[in-house]
Amino acid sequence: MKECVLVTGGAGYIGSHTAVELIEAGFDVVIADNLSNSDMGAVEGVRKITGADVPFVQVDTCDRAAFEKVFEKYSFNSVIHFAASKAVGESVAQPLMYYRNNLTSFINVVELMKQYGRPNVVFSSSATVYGEADTLPVTERTPRKPATSPYGNTKQMCEDILRDSVAAYPGLRGIALRYFNPVGAHPSALIGELPRGVPNNLVPFITQTAAGIRECLSVFGDDYNTPDGSCVRDYIDVVDLAKAHVVAIARMTQGKSKADYEIFNIGTGKGVSVLELVRTFEEVNHLKLNYKIVERRAGDVESIWADTTLANDELGWHAERTLDQTLRAAWEWEKHVRGIK
Ligand code: NAD
Ligand code: WQD
Repeated sequence: MKECVLVTGGAGYIGSHTAVELIEAGFDVVIADNLSNSDMGAVEGVRKITGADVPFVQVDTCDRAAFEKVFEKYSFNSVIHFAASKAVGESVAQPLMYYRNNLTSFINVVELMKQYGRPNVVFSSSATVYGEADTLPVTERTPRKPATSPYGNTKQMCEDILRDSVAAYPGLRGIALRYFNPVGAHPSALIGELPRGVPNNLVPFITQTAAGIRECLSVFGDDYNTPDGSCVRDYIDVVDLAKAHVVAIARMTQGKSKADYEIFNIGTGKGVSVLELVRTFEEVNHLKLNYKIVERRAGDVESIWADTTLANDELGWHAERTLDQTLRAAWEWEKHVRGIK
């Protein structure tokens, strides 16, 4: 019998790519999502890419009674919990919404996994937990800094909820994956990132500018203490990131975890500046991007990239796709969405 994985938030950007990779690796998948930041297009994309009739349940994971029905109906041993609100600025404006959605949903996940004797929990964490790190690259042992947004705080709190729960409840295991900057799209161009409204993140802003939906990309600052003055990040291809979830699940289902709670950085291990990324996007897609340098954005850290040694050695996972491939795929996806030839 195939191992089954519940993917909460599986209609979203990273969840849909992960569902594809899980299915292609031989897992069964159930997607649960309330479609608050997504639509059925991604689920249909997953079905089309894989040819699998993936079950989808529209449910709010904060609604414990409704969510429990998913546990009654499907016999998965593992959950990957993507379902959360993720906009940093919005979390500053609406902290209670973020605390309610991100904490309640995760507490429900862990409680129900415990109650139904389902052992394996993977949590979507973020490099945001490191804040402005004192040393680079950051390892999993680099101290977390106090969160600078309610969103970041929910990531730290959920990590702690998972750590404390696996310590208290025998039979429960957890892995927190700290994603760096997920970018790109599936090579089929059938699924990708589809932000609502004006994108907050760099790559969707770039692709929308190239598509003529945004007039001009604002590069936030060129006076940082970095080689070209713009901020440095670790841009991880979403397909590589999705594959990291597959190996995390396999590690737990095969009993290979070295501790009941483990944390892994998921990045490329390489820092890329905003201006480098813009130039690469232009080069690989043979176009000119309209951009200007503006003031720094409040709250941005100057530089961060991952030390991925632990994920490389322990999970046997490496980022494989090049930035060129990633930025080509991002543009192919945008063209697909906008009907551009
Ligand atoms: P996304 O918004 O595309 O996906 C999240 C999905 O969860 C959406 O489909 C949304 O409808 C669903 N959802 C939200 N609240 C829900 C609820 N209460 N019940 C059911 N479904 C709910 O975001 P994403 O970029 O795919 O992010 C997935 C996860 O990864 C999130 O937890 C996010 O915080 C984390 N993460 C994202 C990034 C990033 O830059 N994209 C970086 C680090 C961590
Ligand atoms: C990347 C770089 C900007 C937009 C955020 C969250 C983090 C995580 C990933 C969830 C920065 C610059 C951006 C633009 C720009 N999400 N930029 N013009 O801020 O590294 O991380 O997403 O966990 O928590 O904070 O990503 O894509 O917003 O920015 O110059 O229009 O691009 O200043 O240097 P960030 P981002």
